[in-house]
Amino acid sequence: MSGILALGAYVPERVMTNADFEAYLDTSDEWIVTRTGIKERRVAAEDEYTSDLAFKAVEDLLRRHPGALEGVDAVIVATNTPDALFPDTAALVQARFGLKAFAYDLLAGCPGWIYALAQAHALVEAGLAQKVLAVGAEALSKIIDWNDRATAVLFGDGGGAAVVGKVREGYGFRSLVLGAAGTGATENRLYMNGREVFKFAVRVMNTATLEAIEKAGLTPEDIRLFVPHQANLRIIDAARERLGLPWERVAVNVDRYGNTSTASIPLALKEAVDAGRIREGDHVLLVSFGAGLTWAAAVLTWGGA
Ligand code: UT7
Repeated sequence: MSGILALGAYVPERVMTNADFEAYLDTSDEWIVTRTGIKERRVAAEDEYTSDLAFKAVEDLLRRHPGALEGVDAVIVATNTPDALFPDTAALVQARFGLKAFAYDLLAGCPGWIYALAQAHALVEAGLAQKVLAVGAEALSKIIDWNDRATAVLFGDGGGAAVVGKVREGYGFRSLVLGAAGTGATENRLYMNGREVFKFAVRVMNTATLEAIEKAGLTPEDIRLFVPHQANLRIIDAARERLGLPWERVAVNVDRYGNTSTASIPLALKEAVDAGRIREGDHVLLVSFGAGLTWAAAVLTWGGA
C-alpha cells in the first residue's frame, strides 16, 4: 500500500481583502461573502511564480519532516499556471532540491493534485518510483482578469506538497476516483459559467464521493474528515449535507484563501493535521472538481509511515 508520508504548504504573504476589490470594482464584501464565503485571499509578489510557491511548500514539508525527500525519485507538479510551457515546473523543483528524480507537470484543472496523488500511488505500486513528491501550486493571480468581477474575486495563490510512498498494511489510499467531461470546455482564456459549474460541482461532488467511499469499503459515517476543494462555501455545504456529515468533520479555509485550485486540498489538509483534526488510522475523504471539466475523489487511511 502507498500513502502520504509527509505534507507541507505555503501561501504568499500579501493578503487581498474583499474591501480591496470594493475599492475599484462594482462588487461588495456582502455579495462575495454570501455567494462564496470568501473574505480574503493571498496574492503572490510580482516576482513570485508557481515554482517559487512550489519550492516554499516543499521547504515547509522539509521543516516539518526533515529527511522526507530522501529516496524521492519522481516529482509531479499539478498546476494550471506553470511558469512556462517548458521547462516543466516539476523539473525546477527537482533541480532546486537536488533530487535524483524524473519530473513532469500535470494539467487537469483544480483536481490536479488528487490526479497527482493517483499517479504517485500508481508509480509506487508499479515499482516505477520509490517515493513521489506530489505538488499542487498555483499563481492564478498572474492570469486573472483583475477587471472581471465574476472571476477575479474567486481565486487565490498558494502551494501544497506531499511525499507519497509505501505505508504499513491497513493505511494509505483505499480508493481513487478520477473523471473528465470535456464537453463543458469553452475557450482558451479564464472564463467560467458560474451557475453551470456550481450545479455540476454539487452533482459530481456527491457522485464522486459516494463512489470513492463505496470503493473504499466504507460508509459516510466512517469518514473522520472531509477535505473538499475550496471553491465556494455553498458548494461545500451542499456536499457536506448530502454526505450527512457535521461541520466538525469538514475542512474549510475558503474564507481565508479563496479558490487556490490545485493547492486547495493540500493547504486544507495541512491545516487539519496541524489542528489535530486527523489522527493515525482516521479515514479521510478528498474531493475536487474544476476546469475541464474534471473531477477526482480519494479515500485514504491516515498514517502508517
Ligand atoms: O474551481 C472550480 C471553479 N469554479 C467554481 O467553483 C465556481 C462555481 N460557481 C460559483 O461558485 C458561483 O456560481 C459564483 C460564485 C461564481 C456565482 O454565484 P451565483 O450565486 O451563481 O451568482 P450568478 O452567477 O447567478 O450571478 C448573480 C448576479 C449576476 O447579476 P445579474 O445578472 O443577476 O444582474 C452577476 O452579474 O451577481 C452578479 N455578480 C456579481 N455581483 C457583485 C457576479 N459577480 C459579482 C461580483 N460582485 N463579484
